[in-house]
Amino acid sequence: MLSPISSMLVPTFFLFIATLVSCTPTSAIKPVVTTVYQFPSGAYLENLAVGHESILVTRADTPSLYQIKLPARPHASAYASLIHHFPNATGLMGIAEYAPNTFAVIVGNFSMTKLVPGTWSVWSVQIFDKNQHSTIEKIVDLVEGQFLNGMAILNKTGAILIADSLAGCVYHLNVKTGAYEVVLEHESMKATGAIGLNGIRTVTTATESFLYYDNSKTTTVNRVAIDPVSGRAKGKYITLAHGFYADDLAYDYETGDVWVAGNADNTIFRINYDGDEIVVANASSTPSVMTPSSLAFGKGRHSRTLFSTTYAGVAPNGTVTGGNLLAIDVGLEKR
Ligand SMILES: *[C@@H]1O[C@H](CO)[C@@H](O)[C@H](O)[C@H]1NC(C)=O
Ligand SMILES: *[C@@H]1O[C@H](CO)[C@@H](O)[C@H](O)[C@H]1NC(C)=O
Ligand SMILES: *[C@@H]1O[C@H](CO)[C@@H](O)[C@H](O)[C@H]1NC(C)=O
Ligand SMILES: *[C@@H]1O[C@H](CO)[C@@H](O)[C@H](O)[C@H]1NC(C)=O
Ligand SMILES: *[C@@H]1O[C@H](CO)[C@@H](O)[C@H](O)[C@H]1NC(C)=O
Repeated sequence: MLSPISSMLVPTFFLFIATLVSCTPTSAIKPVVTTVYQFPSGAYLENLAVGHESILVTRADTPSLYQIKLPARPHASAYASLIHHFPNATGLMGIAEYAPNTFAVIVGNFSMTKLVPGTWSVWSVQIFDKNQHSTIEKIVDLVEGQFLNGMAILNKTGAILIADSLAGCVYHLNVKTGAYEVVLEHESMKATGAIGLNGIRTVTTATESFLYYDNSKTTTVNRVAIDPVSGRAKGKYITLAHGFYADDLAYDYETGDVWVAGNADNTIFRINYDGDEIVVANASSTPSVMTPSSLAFGKGRHSRTLFSTTYAGVAPNGTVTGGNLLAIDVGLEKR
């Protein structure tokens, strides 16, 4: 069980040093990338969920959940507050809002070099913004989980879908009863002894629901039509693009594009409707785009602000810092 995690993280830091050395700015792409909040060195930001005028961020290096309040005015600063430090665990993975101001979070014992089997659980965190108060409860111990990673919501029922990166399958979890079962399992999600299935996002239109997902090992971005209640496949599994390392992803309701955090490649990609992969930002042109781990658009389906968590960053003076929350203005990409 040592290899999966180290294969995820070691190349990341390797590339990361290479990037700092060859940090030559290029002018081909100029997305507006703003650092919203920078964590201290060693903080790996793993995933995020968009809340009410705030972003919730999970850390993989310690089981801490933060709320980052977005600045109310231009030039004001964002600030972060610790919502909860989960006991009896080493880190957090996926997070998603399944009811207003109520988030599910994956908690477990894992590190860069080691996974402790049987330690995964899913928790519910309800945030009351008015009095800075939150209630935290465990939903379930998902003991069969091998390496729980991305999370998505089935919006009709508020049920959760959870990606297992080592098992190559997707769990459906009823947040009210804690009942869970595997509802999707497919070759395109697998990777022997490594991180396969990683990011998952549900996409609902007036008539159809899909799960978009990527596989870090096989470097593919895929989708499958699903039943909006059960989460089970209703159509073929289709590979949309391949050829680069994909961590988490976001779906763009304005354009139909898929935005991908290319963690180990220090790149954010956009996959357009034709399956073309376009480099939107990378660390050689935009130094803050370092080891991006997850992406989410701002509230509502029309937001043109794409938020990104990262494992590391660079301070203005060039020193390496901990993970960043970035805001990327993708307005120019609108069709
Ligand atoms: C990074 O972005 C620049 C500017 O678009 C591009 O020229 C370069 O090829 C990219 N590097 C990689 C490794 O994709
Ligand atoms: C999980 O990690 C916590 C915090 O380090 C530790 O106290 C606990 O013993 C670990 N659990 C297992 C089963 O290893
Ligand atoms: C700690 O977590 C393990 C599973 O990882 C569980 O068996 C144990 O009961 C937990 N201990 C406490 C005090 O919650
Ligand atoms: C849920 O899906 C419907 C379409 O089926 C959409 O109109 C609605 O905005 C979605 N809700 C959320 C919170 O995404
Ligand atoms: C560089 O900036 C970081 C972050 O602001 C700071 O912690 C560090 O002390 C600075 N290092 C130097 C050598 O100025």
